Amino acid sequence: MKYFKQEDEFKLESYAKENSTTIPKYLDELERISHLNTNSGRMVSGWEQGRILSTISKMIRPKSILEIGTFTGYSALCLAEGLQNGGQLISLDINPEWNKIAKKYINQSPYHDSIKLIIQDALEYLLKDKSHYDLIFIDADKERYSQYFEICLDLLNSGGFLLADNVLWSGKVLHENPDKTTASIIEFNRMVYQNTRVENFILPIRDGINIIRKLQ
Ligand SMILES: C[S@@+](CC[C@H](N)C(=O)[O-])C[C@H]1O[C@@H](n2cnc3c(N)ncnc32)[C@H](O)[C@@H]1O
Repeated sequence: MKYFKQEDEFKLESYAKENSTTIPKYLDELERISHLNTNSGRMVSGWEQGRILSTISKMIRPKSILEIGTFTGYSALCLAEGLQNGGQLISLDINPEWNKIAKKYINQSPYHDSIKLIIQDALEYLLKDKSHYDLIFIDADKERYSQYFEICLDLLNSGGFLLADNVLWSGKVLHENPDKTTASIIEFNRMVYQNTRVENFILPIRDGINIIRKLQ
Protein backbone atom coordinates (compact mmCIF):
# COMPACT_ATOMS: atom_id res chain seq x y z
CA MET A 1 0.00 0.00 0.00
CA LYS A 2 1.27 3.47 -0.87
CA TYR A 3 1.61 6.06 1.89
CA PHE A 4 1.14 8.98 -0.49
CA LYS A 5 -1.52 10.31 -2.87
CA GLN A 6 -1.48 8.87 -6.42
CA GLU A 7 -1.22 12.41 -7.90
CA ASP A 8 2.03 13.02 -5.98
CA GLU A 9 3.74 9.90 -7.38
CA PHE A 10 5.83 11.62 -10.09
CA LYS A 11 6.80 14.54 -7.86
CA LEU A 12 7.90 12.10 -5.16
CA GLU A 13 9.92 10.08 -7.67
CA SER A 14 11.76 13.26 -8.67
CA TYR A 15 12.24 14.16 -4.99
CA ALA A 16 13.70 10.68 -4.32
CA LYS A 17 16.09 11.00 -7.28
CA GLU A 18 17.18 14.53 -6.32
CA ASN A 19 17.93 13.36 -2.77
CA SER A 20 19.86 10.24 -3.80
CA THR A 21 23.51 10.05 -4.82
CA THR A 22 23.92 11.28 -8.38
CA ILE A 23 24.35 8.45 -10.88
CA PRO A 24 26.99 8.46 -13.63
CA LYS A 25 26.08 10.61 -16.68
CA TYR A 26 26.45 7.63 -19.04
CA LEU A 27 23.51 5.89 -17.29
CA ASP A 28 21.16 8.86 -17.68
CA GLU A 29 22.17 9.15 -21.34
CA LEU A 30 21.80 5.40 -21.92
CA GLU A 31 18.28 5.42 -20.45
CA ARG A 32 17.33 8.30 -22.77
CA ILE A 33 18.92 6.67 -25.82
CA SER A 34 17.19 3.35 -25.05
CA HIS A 35 13.85 5.13 -25.38
CA LEU A 36 14.84 7.23 -28.40
CA ASN A 37 16.77 4.69 -30.49
CA THR A 38 14.85 1.46 -29.94
CA ASN A 39 11.17 0.62 -30.20
CA SER A 40 11.35 -1.14 -26.82
CA GLY A 41 12.47 1.58 -24.41
CA ARG A 42 10.03 0.25 -21.84
CA MET A 43 12.39 -2.69 -21.28
CA VAL A 44 15.25 -0.61 -19.87
CA SER A 45 15.68 -0.94 -16.10
CA GLY A 46 16.04 2.82 -15.63
CA TRP A 47 16.95 4.82 -12.56
CA GLU A 48 14.83 3.20 -9.82
CA GLN A 49 15.41 -0.44 -10.70
CA GLY A 50 19.00 0.29 -11.69
CA ARG A 51 19.74 1.69 -8.23
CA ILE A 52 18.17 -1.38 -6.61
CA LEU A 53 20.32 -3.69 -8.74
CA SER A 54 23.43 -1.65 -8.00
CA THR A 55 22.72 -1.62 -4.25
CA ILE A 56 22.04 -5.37 -4.10
CA SER A 57 25.23 -6.03 -6.05
CA LYS A 58 27.26 -3.73 -3.74
CA MET A 59 25.88 -5.60 -0.71
CA ILE A 60 26.82 -9.01 -2.18
CA ARG A 61 30.18 -7.94 -3.68
CA PRO A 62 30.07 -10.75 -6.28
CA LYS A 63 33.11 -12.09 -8.08
CA SER A 64 30.98 -13.40 -10.92
CA ILE A 65 27.64 -12.21 -12.30
CA LEU A 66 25.50 -13.69 -15.08
CA GLU A 67 22.81 -11.62 -16.76
CA ILE A 68 20.21 -13.11 -19.12
CA GLY A 69 18.89 -10.25 -21.27
CA THR A 70 21.32 -7.37 -21.94
CA PHE A 71 19.07 -5.09 -24.04
CA THR A 72 21.08 -1.82 -24.13
CA GLY A 73 23.32 -2.69 -21.18
CA TYR A 74 21.71 -0.49 -18.49
CA SER A 75 21.20 -3.24 -15.88
CA ALA A 76 24.60 -4.80 -16.67
CA LEU A 77 26.29 -1.46 -15.92
CA CYS A 78 24.36 -1.13 -12.64
CA LEU A 79 25.12 -4.69 -11.50
CA ALA A 80 28.81 -4.28 -12.41
CA GLU A 81 29.09 -1.48 -9.83
CA GLY A 82 29.20 -4.11 -7.07
CA LEU A 83 31.78 -6.45 -8.65
CA GLN A 84 34.88 -7.30 -6.63
CA ASN A 85 38.19 -6.18 -8.14
CA GLY A 86 38.98 -8.52 -11.01
CA GLY A 87 35.39 -9.81 -11.06
CA GLN A 88 33.44 -10.43 -14.25
CA LEU A 89 29.88 -9.99 -15.52
CA ILE A 90 28.69 -12.03 -18.50
CA SER A 91 25.56 -10.76 -20.24
CA LEU A 92 23.60 -12.73 -22.86
CA ASP A 93 21.30 -11.45 -25.60
CA ILE A 94 20.19 -12.40 -29.09
CA ASN A 95 19.75 -8.90 -30.53
CA PRO A 96 22.90 -7.53 -32.24
CA GLU A 97 21.45 -4.02 -32.78
CA TRP A 98 20.74 -3.41 -29.10
CA ASN A 99 24.10 -5.00 -28.31
CA LYS A 100 25.87 -2.26 -30.31
CA ILE A 101 24.31 0.38 -28.04
CA ALA A 102 25.30 -1.66 -24.96
CA LYS A 103 28.89 -1.95 -26.19
CA LYS A 104 29.16 1.80 -26.85
CA TYR A 105 28.04 2.75 -23.32
CA ILE A 106 30.01 -0.01 -21.58
CA ASN A 107 33.12 1.27 -23.34
CA GLN A 108 32.50 4.73 -21.86
CA SER A 109 32.20 3.31 -18.34
CA PRO A 110 34.81 2.15 -15.80
CA TYR A 111 33.52 -1.42 -16.38
CA HIS A 112 34.67 -1.96 -19.97
CA ASP A 113 37.12 -4.68 -18.89
CA SER A 114 34.73 -6.44 -16.52
CA ILE A 115 31.61 -6.82 -18.69
CA LYS A 116 31.58 -9.44 -21.43
CA LEU A 117 28.67 -9.34 -23.90
CA ILE A 118 27.72 -12.58 -25.65
CA ILE A 119 25.24 -12.70 -28.52
CA GLN A 120 23.68 -16.15 -28.25
CA ASP A 121 20.40 -17.75 -27.29
CA ALA A 122 20.50 -17.92 -23.49
CA LEU A 123 19.24 -21.50 -23.18
CA GLU A 124 21.80 -22.71 -25.72
CA TYR A 125 24.55 -20.94 -23.76
CA LEU A 126 23.40 -22.11 -20.33
CA LEU A 127 23.18 -25.76 -21.32
CA LYS A 128 26.94 -25.71 -21.99
CA ASP A 129 27.94 -23.36 -19.17
CA LYS A 130 30.13 -24.93 -16.49
CA SER A 131 30.82 -21.70 -14.56
CA HIS A 132 29.61 -20.74 -11.12
CA TYR A 133 28.12 -17.39 -10.21
CA ASP A 134 27.50 -15.35 -7.06
CA LEU A 135 24.69 -13.34 -8.64
CA ILE A 136 22.38 -14.08 -11.58
CA PHE A 137 19.84 -11.69 -13.11
CA ILE A 138 17.11 -13.20 -15.29
CA ASP A 139 15.45 -10.61 -17.52
CA ALA A 140 14.76 -12.19 -20.93
CA ASP A 141 12.02 -14.34 -22.56
CA LYS A 142 9.41 -14.89 -19.86
CA GLU A 143 8.19 -18.24 -21.25
CA ARG A 144 11.54 -19.75 -20.29
CA TYR A 145 11.87 -18.36 -16.79
CA SER A 146 11.25 -21.78 -15.16
CA GLN A 147 13.85 -23.46 -17.39
CA TYR A 148 16.37 -20.70 -16.71
CA PHE A 149 15.68 -21.03 -12.98
CA GLU A 150 16.33 -24.78 -12.91
CA ILE A 151 19.62 -24.48 -14.80
CA CYS A 152 20.77 -21.33 -13.01
CA LEU A 153 20.16 -22.83 -9.59
CA ASP A 154 22.91 -25.36 -10.31
CA LEU A 155 25.24 -22.64 -11.58
CA LEU A 156 24.67 -20.46 -8.52
CA ASN A 157 27.10 -20.73 -5.59
CA SER A 158 25.62 -21.60 -2.18
CA GLY A 159 24.37 -18.40 -0.56
CA GLY A 160 24.28 -16.76 -3.99
CA PHE A 161 21.39 -14.62 -5.24
CA LEU A 162 19.20 -14.94 -8.28
CA LEU A 163 17.04 -11.95 -9.27
CA ALA A 164 14.18 -12.27 -11.76
CA ASP A 165 12.49 -9.22 -13.25
CA ASN A 166 8.85 -8.67 -14.30
CA VAL A 167 7.40 -11.30 -11.99
CA LEU A 168 4.18 -9.31 -11.46
CA TRP A 169 3.84 -8.82 -15.25
CA SER A 170 1.90 -5.55 -15.13
CA GLY A 171 -0.51 -7.11 -12.63
CA LYS A 172 -1.55 -9.87 -15.04
CA VAL A 173 -0.44 -12.58 -12.56
CA LEU A 174 -3.80 -11.93 -10.87
CA HIS A 175 -5.84 -12.74 -14.02
CA GLU A 176 -8.13 -15.75 -13.80
CA ASN A 177 -7.54 -16.81 -17.41
CA PRO A 178 -3.91 -15.83 -17.95
CA ASP A 179 -2.33 -15.76 -21.42
CA LYS A 180 0.65 -18.03 -22.18
CA THR A 181 3.35 -15.59 -21.05
CA THR A 182 1.51 -14.72 -17.84
CA ALA A 183 0.96 -18.43 -17.13
CA SER A 184 4.73 -18.98 -17.47
CA ILE A 185 5.46 -16.27 -14.92
CA ILE A 186 2.83 -17.63 -12.51
CA GLU A 187 4.39 -21.08 -12.87
CA PHE A 188 7.88 -19.64 -12.28
CA ASN A 189 6.82 -17.81 -9.10
CA ARG A 190 5.08 -20.97 -7.81
CA MET A 191 8.13 -23.09 -8.59
CA VAL A 192 10.45 -20.72 -6.72
CA TYR A 193 8.11 -20.51 -3.72
CA GLN A 194 7.88 -24.30 -3.46
CA ASN A 195 11.59 -24.99 -3.99
CA THR A 196 13.23 -26.03 -0.73
CA ARG A 197 16.73 -25.14 -1.99
CA VAL A 198 15.92 -21.41 -1.88
CA GLU A 199 14.26 -18.65 0.10
CA ASN A 200 12.67 -15.75 -1.74
CA PHE A 201 10.94 -12.40 -1.51
CA ILE A 202 8.96 -10.73 -4.30
CA LEU A 203 9.76 -7.04 -4.13
CA PRO A 204 6.58 -5.40 -5.42
CA ILE A 205 8.19 -2.33 -6.99
CA ARG A 206 7.95 -1.47 -10.68
CA ASP A 207 7.04 -4.77 -12.43
CA GLY A 208 8.12 -6.94 -9.47
CA ILE A 209 11.55 -8.43 -8.78
CA ASN A 210 11.78 -11.95 -7.35
CA ILE A 211 14.81 -11.94 -5.03
CA ILE A 212 15.91 -15.53 -4.53
CA ARG A 213 18.71 -16.81 -2.29
CA LYS A 214 20.19 -20.29 -2.72
CA LEU A 215 20.41 -21.92 0.70
CA GLN A 216 23.08 -24.54 0.08
C1 LIG B 1 13.66 -6.77 -20.77
S1 LIG B 1 14.99 -6.81 -21.90
C2 LIG B 1 16.40 -6.72 -20.85
C3 LIG B 1 16.53 -5.38 -20.18
C4 LIG B 1 17.84 -5.16 -19.46
N1 LIG B 1 18.16 -6.25 -18.57
C5 LIG B 1 17.74 -3.88 -18.66
O1 LIG B 1 17.26 -3.97 -17.53
O2 LIG B 1 18.08 -2.80 -19.13
C6 LIG B 1 14.98 -8.46 -22.44
C7 LIG B 1 16.11 -8.83 -23.39
O3 LIG B 1 16.11 -10.27 -23.51
C8 LIG B 1 16.57 -10.59 -24.80
N2 LIG B 1 16.18 -11.96 -25.10
C9 LIG B 1 14.95 -12.44 -25.45
N3 LIG B 1 15.00 -13.74 -25.67
C10 LIG B 1 16.28 -14.15 -25.46
C11 LIG B 1 16.96 -15.40 -25.54
N4 LIG B 1 16.33 -16.51 -25.89
N5 LIG B 1 18.28 -15.44 -25.25
C12 LIG B 1 18.95 -14.29 -24.90
N6 LIG B 1 18.35 -13.09 -24.81
C13 LIG B 1 17.04 -13.00 -25.11
C14 LIG B 1 15.91 -9.53 -25.69
O4 LIG B 1 16.60 -9.41 -26.92
C15 LIG B 1 15.97 -8.29 -24.80
O5 LIG B 1 17.10 -7.49 -25.11
